[in-house]
Amino acid sequence: MASRKKQPSGGGRGPGRRAAGAAGAGPLAAIVLAAGKGTRMRSARAKVLHELCGRPLVVYPVELARAVGAAPIVAVLGHQREAVEAVLRARLGPTGVTVVEQTEQRGTGHAVRLAMPALASAFAASEGGLVMVLYGDVPLLRRETLEALVGTARRYSCLAMITATPPDPTGYGRVLRDERGHVIGIVEQKDASPEELEIGEINAGIYCGPADFFREATATLSARNAQKEYYLTDIVARAAGSIGVSAIEADFKDVAGINDRQQLAEAEAAMRARINKALMAHVTFRDPASAVVEPDVELGVDVELGRNVALRGRTRVDHGARIGDGVILTNVEVGAGAEVRPYSVATDAAIGPGAIIGPFAHLRPGTRVGPEAHVGNFVELKKTALGKGSKANHLTYLGDATIGEGVNVGAGTITCNYNGYEKFQTVIEDQAFIGSDTQLIAPVKVGRRAVIGAGTTVTSDVPAGALALSRVAQVEKAGYAQKVAKKYAEKRKSG
Ligand code: UD1
Ligand code: CA
Repeated sequence: MASRKKQPSGGGRGPGRRAAGAAGAGPLAAIVLAAGKGTRMRSARAKVLHELCGRPLVVYPVELARAVGAAPIVAVLGHQREAVEAVLRARLGPTGVTVVEQTEQRGTGHAVRLAMPALASAFAASEGGLVMVLYGDVPLLRRETLEALVGTARRYSCLAMITATPPDPTGYGRVLRDERGHVIGIVEQKDASPEELEIGEINAGIYCGPADFFREATATLSARNAQKEYYLTDIVARAAGSIGVSAIEADFKDVAGINDRQQLAEAEAAMRARINKALMAHVTFRDPASAVVEPDVELGVDVELGRNVALRGRTRVDHGARIGDGVILTNVEVGAGAEVRPYSVATDAAIGPGAIIGPFAHLRPGTRVGPEAHVGNFVELKKTALGKGSKANHLTYLGDATIGEGVNVGAGTITCNYNGYEKFQTVIEDQAFIGSDTQLIAPVKVGRRAVIGAGTTVTSDVPAGALALSRVAQVEKAGYAQKVAKKYAEKRKSG
């Protein structure tokens, strides 16, 4: 556990006086603040759209809110709202998130105040209920920490907040505590006195508390401060004087916001290490530092990963499969016991159990390699199904093709699927034998057990069991080499 709980502290009305569980049974809503531009990113793209381990930053808090059961999830968006909204809708579906627009960034308190009406319907029917506030640029927050935060707010009906002690607190709001250690407020860097700037404990900016408290407290914020902003942090002093505040201390690395590209790179390394460490319970990594496994990837027991592999998107690798050095898989399903040999690349494809791919194979979108099939070096497949036990082992392009079971595709075979305007299909039935250096001019069909002689250009359908040949008959010219050698020898003498 990264966090430690503290009893809430308050003024007149401490948690002991408040009916325990008043907010306990009600709904839990989440507000994700992501309207800021992220100037320090120095990017044409809004900060929260930058990716960490393949996911836009803003997706992390939203997914986490969903994971702890929050509904509704309200995202406060401003800069590049449309693009950010599109990312969230693609990820969570059209109704997974409610978007509130904040056209002018007038502070975190202003942002939360704007979000409150969007929660009204969720809280209308029930007494109590909780609101949590997350940031769009804090992707490493742990589920356990958030659960502890919500649990504390629920148990004590207080304002629960996360604090941390970074190596350098500069820039953060500092946590003010009284002589008994109770949190009494937050002071922002720009408003802090020299003594307050000495405080090492900072406000992570993540809170959970009763919805009615948030509504009241954010409605009456003022912008009388150094930045002329509505500070959400002002609600902490408000809670200290009423419902009580409870601080949960987290590891700073887990609650650090991302402001620039260096922090983005550091967070990526931290996230990668976290994912890989968890997977090492059942997966063998040859080199966990170099393996990139994105958060949505699923790996079965006894999967082995080589150096510099990248498993992206919704990739799923079943038990006992081996993924060699330098392999890149994006949205790929790999069956049990399959082997993907080094430096193969596959995207939006499926590899059957026991199949062998590579080295240096390229499976493009729409490829389905059957069980125990083999795809060898310098073979490219696109929108192609290769049946069970079929082999295409060397220097081959198969596009828009349906290939049955037990087919042997010789070296250098090419499906000529494109005439410059349209794509056409090639069908090769079970047990057919395609000789090396065959061109299949699609649309064309090769029947079951048919044999194509090496070097053939197949322009029309080949019936089952037939041999197709399009070679020119061979001629021999006896003594040819000698004759030519003699001719050039004489030329050299005379010239
Ligand atoms: C805030 C806290 C500070 C805390 C720090 C932790 C306030 C006043 N201060 O400071 O105590 O230590 O976070 O990182 O809350 N946002 C909006 N609309 C706005 C302003 C901000 O959506 O009008 C969003 C930003 O996009 C960002 C988040 O809120 O995701 C935090 O905003 P930021 O400006 O980084 O807050 P800080 O001033 O750094
Ligand atoms: Ca910040």
